[in-house]
Amino acid sequence: MASSQPPRAPVAPPQPANADNTNLAHLNPLPQSVFTLPQTAQLEALYTIIRDKETSRGDFLFYSDRIIRLLVEEGLNHLPVVSRTIETPTGAKYEGVGFLGKICGVSILRAGEAMEAGLREVCRSVRIGKILIQRDEETAQPKLFYSKFPPDIASRYVLLLDPMLATGGSAIKAVEVIKENGVPEERIIFINLISAPEGLKTFTSRYPAVKVITGWIDQGLNEKAYIIPGLGDFGERRYCT
Ligand code: URA
Repeated sequence: MASSQPPRAPVAPPQPANADNTNLAHLNPLPQSVFTLPQTAQLEALYTIIRDKETSRGDFLFYSDRIIRLLVEEGLNHLPVVSRTIETPTGAKYEGVGFLGKICGVSILRAGEAMEAGLREVCRSVRIGKILIQRDEETAQPKLFYSKFPPDIASRYVLLLDPMLATGGSAIKAVEVIKENGVPEERIIFINLISAPEGLKTFTSRYPAVKVITGWIDQGLNEKAYIIPGLGDFGERRYCT
């Protein structure tokens, strides 16, 4: 059945990352280490689906995976390259570039695991580490419960994966642990779907050299530290538990 709503004019043209979008006005200026996906109407449509509480689990998986894929691709755009000259089948020389250095993913359990498949789709046989951080009941601070990293993580670029940046506590602890394993801040890229301005501010002031690639910056946090408008609990939406 046709919708009674008039079609919304497409936003044209797509915006470069860090453009002065109105939905980012509440975090003005955007910290220099923060990069958003181009805030196009198509991207907003994907977010509208995954934010909707009526969206089925199947659609939540499909559309959140689409956003994750875009985020991973954007994250990879921030990796350095070196000059590389090759010869094409025509016999012509082509002065291009090649990837520099190895990467690995580190997912913050459990929601970050949902982003692993998106990384594997674009980086063949990528190594992936895991980190489990939970609130310490005594101190109320984020506490490391488990970590497993590739043995050579110190020589890799790290894509840190966690879908929701709320207060920033887990991500800050995760970067602390990754740094303790020999990875400098400059080689860590934190990728998430939705950020709260509060978490972004705390995270970027603690680690100004860690790049943050976020799909959308929301209004803020509620009293339970959920992102508003957000999408609820990402793990629950994704795993239905
Ligand atoms: N984690 C979630 O899954 N959702 C939020 O809104 C905040 C943290």
